[in-house]
Amino acid sequence: MSNKFTYKYYLLLSICLFIVVTLSAQKLPRERKRFTEEWLFKKTTDSSASQIQYNDKDWRKLSLPHDWAIEGPFKPEYNPRTGGLPIFDKAWYRKHFKIDASAKGKIITLEFDGIMYNSSVYINGSKVYERPYGYIGFEIDITPYVKLGSDNVIAVKLNPEMLASRWYSGAGIYRNVWMEIKNPVHVKHWGNHISTPVVEKEKAKVKVETMVSSKQKNHVGKYQIKTSIVDADGAEVAKLMADFKFISGEAKIIQELEVVNPKLWDMETPHLYKTVSSIYKNNIVVDTYTQQFGIRTISYSREGFFLNGRRVKLKGVCLHHDLGALGTAVNYRATERQLQIMKAMGVNAIRTSHNPASPEQLDLCDKMGLLVQEEAFDCWAMPKVENDYSKYWAQWHEQDLRDMIRRDRNRPSIIMWSIGNEIREQNKEDGYLLARSLSKICKEEDPNRPTTAGFNNFSVAIKNGLAAEIDLVGANYKPSDYASTMQQHKDWIVYGSETASCVSSRGVYHLPLEKYDKHPSLQVSSYDNQSPGWAYPPDVEFHFQDSLPNAIGEFVWTGFDYLGEPTPYGGKDNLTHGNWDTDWPSRSSYFGAVDLAGFPKDRFYLYQSRWTTEPMVHVLPHWNWEGSSVTEIPVYCYTNCDEAELFVNGKSYGRKKMGVDKTIVPVAFNAWKNRPKNFESPYRLNWNVLYEKGELKVVAYKNGKEAAVKTINTAKTPNQIKLIPDRKVISADGEDLSFITVKIEDEDGNFCPLADNKIEFKLSGPATIAAVDNGNAASTEPFQANYRKTFNGLCLLVIRSKKGAAGEVKIEASSAGLKTSAIIISIQ
Ligand code: GAL
Repeated sequence: MSNKFTYKYYLLLSICLFIVVTLSAQKLPRERKRFTEEWLFKKTTDSSASQIQYNDKDWRKLSLPHDWAIEGPFKPEYNPRTGGLPIFDKAWYRKHFKIDASAKGKIITLEFDGIMYNSSVYINGSKVYERPYGYIGFEIDITPYVKLGSDNVIAVKLNPEMLASRWYSGAGIYRNVWMEIKNPVHVKHWGNHISTPVVEKEKAKVKVETMVSSKQKNHVGKYQIKTSIVDADGAEVAKLMADFKFISGEAKIIQELEVVNPKLWDMETPHLYKTVSSIYKNNIVVDTYTQQFGIRTISYSREGFFLNGRRVKLKGVCLHHDLGALGTAVNYRATERQLQIMKAMGVNAIRTSHNPASPEQLDLCDKMGLLVQEEAFDCWAMPKVENDYSKYWAQWHEQDLRDMIRRDRNRPSIIMWSIGNEIREQNKEDGYLLARSLSKICKEEDPNRPTTAGFNNFSVAIKNGLAAEIDLVGANYKPSDYASTMQQHKDWIVYGSETASCVSSRGVYHLPLEKYDKHPSLQVSSYDNQSPGWAYPPDVEFHFQDSLPNAIGEFVWTGFDYLGEPTPYGGKDNLTHGNWDTDWPSRSSYFGAVDLAGFPKDRFYLYQSRWTTEPMVHVLPHWNWEGSSVTEIPVYCYTNCDEAELFVNGKSYGRKKMGVDKTIVPVAFNAWKNRPKNFESPYRLNWNVLYEKGELKVVAYKNGKEAAVKTINTAKTPNQIKLIPDRKVISADGEDLSFITVKIEDEDGNFCPLADNKIEFKLSGPATIAAVDNGNAASTEPFQANYRKTFNGLCLLVIRSKKGAAGEVKIEASSAGLKTSAIIISIQ
């Protein structure tokens, strides 16, 4: 190496080192960190818990997010309608914290993603904020209340009431909390509004509105904003500078940037970009704010819903926000697993029924290419249950609705805003006035997306003018009205905002086939012949969707079972339901295509057969009918292939073609009493088979060729436990989870479909049991335990890593009379 070259090399290296060292020594203009560790919790009515000096030594230490209600116990007096769990009470959270003296002159804010509910926040004894609605996030500027360099106490009072929800809401600071330290001049909370007025193959125009706030008394100096667009690889693909001035402490800057050859956000390729807004004062960066977004177009017409110009049918599901046995405490992995299971069923759209979703759920939808209908409310000013949101409606609804849209309007996944579900104002002559004012708020906050609502009293909502006030008219359980309504209203787009509500329990088959309102077992048969009076089997929706091929689609009630609302058990009318204890211990819903533990029911495969193209076939029921008085078994097969053939012990029962038997659907849609016991439809294949133990096999054919096979064998007595983790390696971040399916098998490895053995779990290594479940909607075994009975052969163990503790975790599962089993999960 020549001397000259060596000199240049060292000079360059020194400059680089200098830059790196200087930059890392300099504090970022905005620090954002989670504020979720080392909280204290107690259920108490003592209002002095807001005070700094309050003695909280004996309070329980925990990390957020936290849902106290999921800890149980189950009791009928807690109301089965909301899960039979204690979602009401008076409770406090406290946290002692310090902020470094170097934050002098800075703005310090806390952001709560959601508190369930009726929360008041105190800093060092002063009440600084309150918010009744549990599903909305908010930011609090705590600067005037904190002491730098010394101890501070935040105290949060929660006062969730009984009879305040129609489902399990959870209770507690159940979403994330963040602290930000920023300069007095900074981009406001949810301060970006990004839209894409032009999207073409060669270029996209990206309009970025940025709201900057100044807490400084005078605004002397030169202010500039640099907005960059950065792609998923971190490359800057566009940038623009602008000068700006403050007027009364605020500035709104509108910039239009161009992205060449944009990578569109789509369902298969959910490309994301982000804007980076840097605010300069006298050429020094005083704030940097990033916002994720996507480039895509959406449009709706009577010819369908179009994403990037391509017609897409909504294969949607409604989801409540609970994560089954984990309750409502937000967990990224548990949310991701729910959505992955839905995608495997063929789902492309989620309705966040009936409230704003967690940021994590929406982040995942953006990332996974799922479309979202985000819903604001389940009621307006007229109550559905005594203590619901209607109590706060007058004071809060406008802010809650605006905040939902401001928080989420940059998300490519969101394709419509719902202003409400089955709101009772649909029955009022002047109900349209409220619908009008809510739609107006939506348009003011986001002129680029349509509004919608789900009506159950459909014809009345039309008559009273509510349906005319929204862009997409959602009909709950009225598939036979789609066509006629669109006929009568030539500019309306009507779709299924809630469909089916078919009920079943995983692995339960009541034979001989029977119709009942309720079954003494508190379970519901999986032959899809049970659905409440207002609802119907999925096939009926398929029939009406198929008769309107350009209709925008449906949202099934529901993708997953959820806690609470155990229809058909318990329950009376909404406002007088006080005691839902008649059918205790039934405490969670039966509507899901997937049970509460995440195990697919048969109906999962029915939707999969309709919504996916990879050849699949499914057969039901199980094949363990020895000892039963039933000799003839109805066998149903779901497939996306053309035809299927059924074999029992190698003997063919013949091939049947999909779509051939078209006679039953209209009959099935008639009043409940007229529905047939044996549900036949063009969307499934049926055989009646004389039971003989052995092998039940179904072979599906596509274009005449064998394409998919499913075999079930009669199982012998339970003999062994199989542990099947969804992930064998998880992260040591204290939040990551492994979901372990626990399956009972006979000595030959056949699944035992009736097994109800109680399994005990032993963990050694750096992890804890986060939850156990088995999908039985009528079980009061605790979700937090080291044991669980299997329900129809399956149960679930969820383990959680410990923060900063890597290593191997050995999980042992044992049960009297069964071979013990063990697996290792690696925590990294
Ligand atoms: C609908 C309602 C849902 C759920 C469902 C059960 O009317 O919108 O929240 O209660 O019924 O079928």
